[in-house]
Amino acid sequence: MKELLLKILVENKGTFISGEKLSTELNCSRTAIWKHMDALRKSGYKVESAPKKGYRLTEIADGIQPHDIQLYLQTKKIGHKIHSFDTLPSTQIVARELVLKGAKEGEVIITNEQTAGRGRLGRAWHTSQQKALAFSLLLKPAILPRDVPKLTLVTAVAVIRAIKELTKLPVQIKWPNDIILNGKKLAGILTEMQSEADSVHCIIVGIGLNVNQTEEDIPTELKDIATSLKMEGGQEYRRAALLAKILEEIECLYELYLSEGFLPIKAMWESHAIHIGTTVEVHTIQETIQGIAQGINDDGALQVMDQTGKLHSVYSADVSI
Ligand code: BTN
Repeated sequence: MKELLLKILVENKGTFISGEKLSTELNCSRTAIWKHMDALRKSGYKVESAPKKGYRLTEIADGIQPHDIQLYLQTKKIGHKIHSFDTLPSTQIVARELVLKGAKEGEVIITNEQTAGRGRLGRAWHTSQQKALAFSLLLKPAILPRDVPKLTLVTAVAVIRAIKELTKLPVQIKWPNDIILNGKKLAGILTEMQSEADSVHCIIVGIGLNVNQTEEDIPTELKDIATSLKMEGGQEYRRAALLAKILEEIECLYELYLSEGFLPIKAMWESHAIHIGTTVEVHTIQETIQGIAQGINDDGALQVMDQTGKLHSVYSADVSI
């Protein structure tokens, strides 16, 4: 109901709609309309009201509650249920708890702030309050555990495509899953799974994206290596619209991967990769390899050719360029 009301207001943004018309369209009392308007104002929407004219939406909030997201979401399954929070230790932890309670594929856990956000390789992930996207998506594909890393690459391509479409900014992927903008890290993906030897119970894909942070919001130790869409694009972006587009792209590429395999994704991933054909330094747990990045193989492993001509397949590492 609140979602429908908001849709009508947004479709008529800047124009007055009478309370009577709204209550007829939504089949509810004018007092109920008034209460919903009040709730929308409290969540950041600017709605004017004038006697005899009705209500007029003048500004859309940058919220991440289900009604904010539903405004833009056009998916069939992914994001069908959104669990939205103001602050959490980590969306990955809440996602795991929800799995135990029977959460289904496509559910999304999103928060305005994380107090213990986690990154790859045990690192911390900083999420500025109200300015970033930090969410986890639950997937339950019928794939083998060894194929799960490919889903990280599927997600990276989806994030890139969504950002490019909405912002036109020149984002690129650094293997396996760093989203880079003008040489600095803009977003990261953390894929965690619960599995048995030969079957995957569920996958939790965590995505952190810096959206509206300014220089001051970036922690000092990250200033040289991290950036945000606002810092590079010079304007603010609506997080709910970005989230909806990312979920849409994930749904599309996830279906493609499940029906056609990794090959089409591999080609897309390589077309967005920052380091193909350039010299990279790859730090694995065992060794550091220097060489030219050739691309990824059919398993998603980075292919690096060293000076002796030996080809290394890298499955887990940090890559510097
Ligand atoms: C990385 O690049 O190291 C991955 C960062 C992933 C961060 C996201 S934010 C939402 C989700 N919750 C977490 O605690 N981590 C992921």
